Amino acid sequence: MALRYVVQVGDEVLRKKSEEVRKFDKELFALLDDMKETVRAENGAGLAAPQVGVSLRVVVIDLEEGYFEMINPKILSVKGEQTGGEGCLSVKGKQGIVTRPNKVKAEYRDRHGRKHTVTGEGLFARCMCHEFDHLDGILYIDRASEVFDEPKDGE
Ligand code: CO
Repeated sequence: MALRYVVQVGDEVLRKKSEEVRKFDKELFALLDDMKETVRAENGAGLAAPQVGVSLRVVVIDLEEGYFEMINPKILSVKGEQTGGEGCLSVKGKQGIVTRPNKVKAEYRDRHGRKHTVTGEGLFARCMCHEFDHLDGILYIDRASEVFDEPKDGE
């Protein structure tokens, strides 16, 4: 496993539409292992492959609900609305206010290509929307009602 460099806003890979994963092979496993190490090292809630310069539909999410590896994810349905703070490892030092669905049902494949369905609420739902957006070249700052400098003292 190795830490990967997290690219910052302005890098064009963040604006590309990512490709579907077709090969569930060792290269994918290495990418996922590195993304896990990287998201934890950066204290992030999630990370999408374009953020480490790889234009593939791969996301990791690391929350209280558990650690998820989501490949070729697709939102099946959404419910409700939440408005709250959001940040991104590719937009360092900033936070924004973003309105997202409060509940998201999604399907995805795991690293072995097996299909799963998951329903997330609150932060988990927000996180899925944020990370899946990355796969279509969308950043939270595109959706935020306001963006401001992150407070210096901790959160
Ligand atoms: Co992000």
